Amino acid sequence: MEQYAIKGGNPLVGDVEIGGAKNAALPILAATIMTDETVYIENMPDVWDTNVLLSAMQNIGVMVKRTDRHKVTLNAGNVNSMIVEEEPLKKIRASYYLLGAILGKYKHAEVVLPGGCDIGFRAIDQHIKGFRALGATVSIEHGLIKAKAEKLRGGHVYMDCVSVGATINVMMAATLADGLTIIENSAKEPHVVDVANFLNSMGANIKGAGTDVIRVRGVQKLHGTEYAVIPDQIEAGTFMFAAAVTKGDVTVKNVIPKHLESVTAKLLEIGCEVEELDDCIRVVSSKPLIHTHVKTLPYPGFPTDMQPQITVALALSKGTSIVTETIFENRFKYVDELTRMGASIKVEGTTAIIDGVERYTGASISAPDLRAGSALVVAALAAEGTSTVDDIKYIQRGYEDFHLKLQSLGAQIELVQTEKDFQKFKLKTG
Ligand code: EPZ
Repeated sequence: MEQYAIKGGNPLVGDVEIGGAKNAALPILAATIMTDETVYIENMPDVWDTNVLLSAMQNIGVMVKRTDRHKVTLNAGNVNSMIVEEEPLKKIRASYYLLGAILGKYKHAEVVLPGGCDIGFRAIDQHIKGFRALGATVSIEHGLIKAKAEKLRGGHVYMDCVSVGATINVMMAATLADGLTIIENSAKEPHVVDVANFLNSMGANIKGAGTDVIRVRGVQKLHGTEYAVIPDQIEAGTFMFAAAVTKGDVTVKNVIPKHLESVTAKLLEIGCEVEELDDCIRVVSSKPLIHTHVKTLPYPGFPTDMQPQITVALALSKGTSIVTETIFENRFKYVDELTRMGASIKVEGTTAIIDGVERYTGASISAPDLRAGSALVVAALAAEGTSTVDDIKYIQRGYEDFHLKLQSLGAQIELVQTEKDFQKFKLKTG
């Protein structure tokens, strides 16, 4: 079984190149189904979730060619099925984007119900509400979501909650509907804007992405395009917090600093120095960290996907901090693992009350989900002694070469397969 072996204590120092955003890449890949022409995508992250989606798309007839690790050429001119029920797709949340894309193009789609990280109840009612507002009939049968329409027509959708997935999905389907669709209370995340920009580059007519009202004027057809996915702000934020907790000096490169404003603000609050340049951010952590309070919120608020990483930093910060999770109710599962490393955290409902401790100590821990997994790795990098992190398949869903990038910053981390590998690692790292 693969796990990470980590010897903590080294400050992370150096530059790290940030890849394309997983949560933008997934809907962009799905949206390529909406044109028969060839689409070229750059800055595509090579992670488990995108690869699962690409393989499902290949299986319904989409031509997929990776021209290098981060460039992919797709042609969906010969799609041969509107039904996607592959087993691995059940494990990723983004399978639902195939629904919006295939429904938009072919007015009929059947896709397995989405899975994804177990971080709380993950409803899809707003997706369904949106498709119905465009004139589709939607049902859930035998584990598939089925959506069908004679014709999609523009509609007015008010989202009852701010949902990234539902906003993108309805925006995609509306692109090829007749007339105007208005999506109110839409999500404003950078990846929503990126998908809108991508669709517009294929000939769509979408206005207002990045605000809470998106207007989509349906077009007859979309055409091929070339597009580069935006940088992953969560990957970048994870390395920024890794610098903070290891007392390091890390520059994240190829980022859009604007997308990281909430992360930067919190790092400043807890006592780090942060320097923003055009497309990079440098984080220097040279003083003791200090406590603060955080509430996760839809963009531009502090992202739920950074909640475990900031908690790892606050648990090493002087004083008492409070972290409130408002997006997913089950996103503190990693706290037990962090406690095994010496953290003092009490979770009450969706709030964590954190009494900062001086240090973590190495332990054997498991990743309960993607972001919590990366946060636990960061904790182990700051800990005294050696740790192992199991269930790293979760981390590999969304971080490309995570351990190699950390190694390049001076971390002592290795991917080990056997007890023998682990003993070798321990001998080597002392
Ligand atoms: C996306 O999930 C991301 N996943 C998540 O990233 C991220 O945590 C989340 O957005 C919030 O930013 C992908 O992009 C593949 P939502 P999504 O719809 O679309 C409720 C990661 O680690 N809701 O914005 O599933 C829902 O229960 C992952 O990369 C409804 O009630 O999130 C939640 O409380 C984890 N009904 C809130 O809205 C719906 O129909 C936000 O969910 C849809 C959502």
